[in-house]
Amino acid sequence: MDMRYRPQWQFSPKENWSNDPNGLVYHQGIYHLFYQYHPYSCYWGPMHWGHATSRDLLHWEHQPIALYPDSLGMIFSGSAVSDVNNTSGLGDNDQPPLVCLFTHHGPHGLEQQSLAYSLDGIHFEKYPHNPVIPNPGYKDFRDPKVFWFGKEQRWGLVLAAGDHVEFFRSQDLIHWSFTGRFGPEGNCAPGVWECPDVFPMPTPEGEKWVLLVSMGMGRENGGSRTQYFVGQYDGSTFLSECERPHTLWLDHGPDSYAGVTFFGEPHGRRVLISWMSNWTYADKMPTEGYRGQMSLPIELRLVPTVRGYRLSGNVISSMEMLRGDSYDIWSETLPQGAMEMKLEGDAPFSIRLQNGIGEYVEFGVDDNNCIFLDRTHSGNMEIDPDFGRRYAIHRLETGPVHMYAILDHCAMTLFADHGTRMFSATLFPTQCFESIAVEGMVGGRCTPLINSENFPPLP
Ligand code: FRU
Repeated sequence: MDMRYRPQWQFSPKENWSNDPNGLVYHQGIYHLFYQYHPYSCYWGPMHWGHATSRDLLHWEHQPIALYPDSLGMIFSGSAVSDVNNTSGLGDNDQPPLVCLFTHHGPHGLEQQSLAYSLDGIHFEKYPHNPVIPNPGYKDFRDPKVFWFGKEQRWGLVLAAGDHVEFFRSQDLIHWSFTGRFGPEGNCAPGVWECPDVFPMPTPEGEKWVLLVSMGMGRENGGSRTQYFVGQYDGSTFLSECERPHTLWLDHGPDSYAGVTFFGEPHGRRVLISWMSNWTYADKMPTEGYRGQMSLPIELRLVPTVRGYRLSGNVISSMEMLRGDSYDIWSETLPQGAMEMKLEGDAPFSIRLQNGIGEYVEFGVDDNNCIFLDRTHSGNMEIDPDFGRRYAIHRLETGPVHMYAILDHCAMTLFADHGTRMFSATLFPTQCFESIAVEGMVGGRCTPLINSENFPPLP
């Protein structure tokens, strides 16, 4: 089997179709990643929740399918929490339950929110009185994300309802009441709202809340992308502080969708994983035996910039243990397998990762002071007419440009201006990229990302 495209450090299913990450949770010392999964083909179909676990967010172990479709429908996206105080009563004091809230997508498309739980983190029971949030009459009503609202010592939940999100509250994760809605006012991106997440972030001015919303946009609008709002959650709804309608995008590349953050992350971090694909061409990705890969775990911060508060992303510090011996980018040698590049330079500059048959991906900062990533010559362009594009966005900083890039087989992630500019893109060269071509005033190091002795390679 041709495995050259399968990322090593970013999760992908052993076989068959996957889309959105679901139920990201840290529970009893273990990270859980569930995902939209069709176990019988490499195309989207009746959705299950696939499942994997990890101790460090880098080495994943495949687990049995967690949730199967049933008489209420397929198992669409949702979230999970560690109910440490057993507020649901579904566990006992020695065994806090892992509780999942997900969408049942039923016959005739009826969408409602249901609950499942597990005491051992591997086997799941559906709550016998599902749904726990019935559909009030909407066509789209899905993707519940649960959070703990410490100020009122209770749970909150946000879900997507067509052209807005709705908020609910609960003491026990089972009985939910509606508290408010946000949107469509304040939104200027087209498309159906999906996979929201809402969370507090510390800033120099005190706590602010971020609302992520993935937008199922048509191909004429760039396909599926994730936007965010910065503001406050007042216990009922979200209040945006973005001054004027202006879309803030989480990622400026084509392949970052349905990204949500972990519940219960122990280090006070906010860690996001997204689906590294795009509905425009997801079913045409030329990977063998599986389709759909997750992003790297990305640590988010909310930082002041000249244009206001922006999310910035960075790789998690445990990536450190994967680093091999680094060398100068001007040596023109590209390590095989997964690798990272740290760059510092003065605009304009560009870096090409290339093979011997004229295929390359190019990135850097251009004459217009834009950070860019260009995959128009990166290999297999037959995937889709919209695959071969160049992506660019103005810098948010002045002065020297800091860039950080990771290439994990078919998955490239680029961070610039201290992570306030992120680009995620898949690449399918017909032969591996093997050398680096550098142009401009730029220096940097290239580092292979390899397995340390403590961690055997994934199967
Ligand atoms: C987003 C999405 C969700 C839905 C799921 C179905 O990519 O459309 O809104 O729950 O995928 O697989």
